[in-house]
Amino acid sequence: MKVIRTVAAMQEWALHRRCEGRRVGLVPTMGFLHQGHLSLVETLKAHADLVVVSIFVNPIQFGPNEDFDRYPRDEARDLALLQEAGVDIVFMPSVAEMYPAGFQTHVEVEKLPQHLCGLRRPGHFRGVATVVLKLFHACVPQVAAFGAKDYQQVQVIRAMVRDLNLPILIIESDIVREEDGLALSSRNTFLTPEERQKATCLVRALQEGKAMVERGETSAVAIRHVMADILEDSGARVDYIAIIDPDDLEELELIRERAHAAIAAYMGRTRLIDNMRLKG
Ligand code: PAJ
Repeated sequence: MKVIRTVAAMQEWALHRRCEGRRVGLVPTMGFLHQGHLSLVETLKAHADLVVVSIFVNPIQFGPNEDFDRYPRDEARDLALLQEAGVDIVFMPSVAEMYPAGFQTHVEVEKLPQHLCGLRRPGHFRGVATVVLKLFHACVPQVAAFGAKDYQQVQVIRAMVRDLNLPILIIESDIVREEDGLALSSRNTFLTPEERQKATCLVRALQEGKAMVERGETSAVAIRHVMADILEDSGARVDYIAIIDPDDLEELELIRERAHAAIAAYMGRTRLIDNMRLKG
């Protein structure tokens, strides 16, 4: 496994491999890796000959009062995990390499960010779309994998790829969960032991929402109320609970053929997100 830190060296490596007829795959991450990230590597291996993992904590997708400075980092541990996972290249650029002085071009996906996390985190998806496009141009992959854990993010990336004619296949990989159901996240390390125990309220609320739909409930308001009770009973502060159309992320009032649920909630200072297909 090789570590590459500059865009020029990364492009050179990827373009050479592509000329040799190899299929290059990319997993973009912000590091502090866990089994969720590693499952993306495994998923991607079925679609690519060579796997690149990027590690870059992207400052422009964090709001001024968010956790960029305290976002967890552990380069040595990440490299050991990726080596063990059989990754070929780790692309680890510095902030100055990605955003040199004078940087002024951004990617704006217009509609999808006007829902869910996009409303709570202004500019977040502009930062995500911009860095992912830059990582695509640096690593020049034919295929890239993203986790369903960040459901809105996958939709935003798919829209960008479609709208800008990027010749990259986007693979969506299932959410990896702890044994008790909590979705794996780098931010789970911020939780105190007590918060960690209670944090299963997100998945429990989603499961109850799904069970209600299976029992025939069609009112999104009724489902959201039950979900809110489950979250609040565990001491979570609800940021949003949304029952949405899985494609355009518009809120639904009535459950029809297809419906998805998404939650963001604070456990103490830590903001957690999760989502689940309810129907279709
Ligand atoms: P990060 O939060 O590090 O996540 C990297 C990738 O891992 C994302 O595609 C995310 O959806 C996936 N992932 C995280 N937890 C997961 C889980 N429990 N199960 C399955 N997949 C999971 O998402 C980002 O970084 C950034 O926004 C990025 C795309 C790298 C742009 O900066």
